[in-house]
Amino acid sequence: MKLIAGNWKMNGLKASVAELDALLAAPAPEGAELLVCPPATLVASFARRASGSHVKVGGQDCHWLESGAHTGDVSAEMLADAGATHIIVGHSERRADHGETDAVVRMKAQGVARAGLVPILCVGETLAERDSGATLEVIARQLEGSVPDVRALVIAYEPVWAIGTGRTPTTSQVAEVHAAIAARMGAGVRILYGGSVKPGNAAELLAVPHVDGALVGGASLKAADFLAIAAGAAA
Ligand code: 13P
Repeated sequence: MKLIAGNWKMNGLKASVAELDALLAAPAPEGAELLVCPPATLVASFARRASGSHVKVGGQDCHWLESGAHTGDVSAEMLADAGATHIIVGHSERRADHGETDAVVRMKAQGVARAGLVPILCVGETLAERDSGATLEVIARQLEGSVPDVRALVIAYEPVWAIGTGRTPTTSQVAEVHAAIAARMGAGVRILYGGSVKPGNAAELLAVPHVDGALVGGASLKAADFLAIAAGAAA
């Protein structure tokens, strides 16, 4: 089973439930599990609506602590209470916009596991790092610094230069990085590819060895596109 996860980022209002409803109304895709990660404001209502269905709901980030004096933050336990099953941690936008280090990402992933949820831990190189031939070294360093010792974990490989740009790595570039992550993590850890996944390239990317699913940004906002991507898992 491939995991097709949608990261809505800072998009979505109450009316966006129409997109969730379209996912719920469609038959469960063959060979794919669906996960939608809306903004925190929508997690509880989406999870309630999707309860018992083939669609799971997740968070996009959390604080590493369970509770306390941390104005504006949301804990993994709160997202679990709201019905989330997974939480994305270490997304490159969090690393860039909020200065999150590997050490912080590791604490967050530990927090997700503490709450009984599955972390989706993102790693990926910048264009400068790729161009200088440092990709595998960068990924290895990020894994070394941020992967916690937890039972259930998903890794998402998201080249920073492929996010929201319409550019994707070649399938051999994806294969090289995913094989390196798989070798480092061992069996049982699913590895998603993320970065400009669209209906038109999903089947090709999902067919790459060690690509166990996709983490989809922009194209996850429209149910039709998200379902078309998930259909690529059956190809
Ligand atoms: P896009 O699919 O919009 O490139 O975003 C990828 C991403 O960052 C998912 O987490």
